[in-house]
Amino acid sequence: MTRMVFFTASTLDGFIATEDHSLDWLLSRHIDHDGPGGGSAFMSRIGAAAMGASTYQWVLDHAGVDKWEYTFPCWVFTHRDGMPVAQGPDGPGDIRFTQDDVRTVYAEMAEAAGDRELWMIGGGDLAGQFADHGLLDELIVSLAPVTIGAGKPLLPRHLELELTDLTRNGEFAIVAYRVKPPVTPDR
Ligand SMILES: NC(=O)c1ccc[n+]([C@@H]2O[C@H](COP(=O)([O-])OP(=O)(O)OC[C@H]3O[C@@H](n4cnc5c(N)ncnc54)[C@H](OP(=O)(O)O)[C@@H]3O)[C@@H](O)[C@H]2O)c1
Repeated sequence: MTRMVFFTASTLDGFIATEDHSLDWLLSRHIDHDGPGGGSAFMSRIGAAAMGASTYQWVLDHAGVDKWEYTFPCWVFTHRDGMPVAQGPDGPGDIRFTQDDVRTVYAEMAEAAGDRELWMIGGGDLAGQFADHGLLDELIVSLAPVTIGAGKPLLPRHLELELTDLTRNGEFAIVAYRVKPPVTPDR
């Protein structure tokens, strides 16, 4: 069965970016992507991804419109017109702008991913929109040893979680949780 995983990094007080979308609190720290709980092993499990417009804009602004690195299809939720399609080494990235219902997009992602998993890249409310329909299975958070007081929330919902793993990677604590399903999941 298809699984969607929200794999992200967060401050200890539950923010994935500052109010003005800065990730300096994260990028100023070292995490070993090939180490325990790092992104390399996770990425090999992924067949499709989803993100919101602000996250996509952040990638365009900071990596560059010609530095798209994902080889799997990525759905970008937005109401904005004219967002550019980022380019990878072999041409345009497989980027699908959408305003569709998350349940429709989930079905499209699952079909594209085959037996691989779905990566919810962020932001937190978009992850919550999938969780609202019982479509978010797992939360893996790299917790940075910093608080910032305010910012873009990790997951602004009431969700019941089960701790499934706890790993140290340098100064990060990487915690994994199973998201307990709502009473009536939509799948
Ligand atoms: N710490 C980490 O590892 C990590 C991971 C991911 C992201 N981030 C950062 O976290 C921040 C997240 O920003 P954010 O909270 O604003 O969230 P976001 O999900 O990246 O962007 C929110 C925007 O997505 C669009 N959107 C969301 N749901 C939609 C729907 N159902 N249909 C159509 N469009 C929808 C809307 O854009 P429109 O304006 O087009 O309506 C909305 O304003 C970014 O700065 C990102 O870089 C950090």
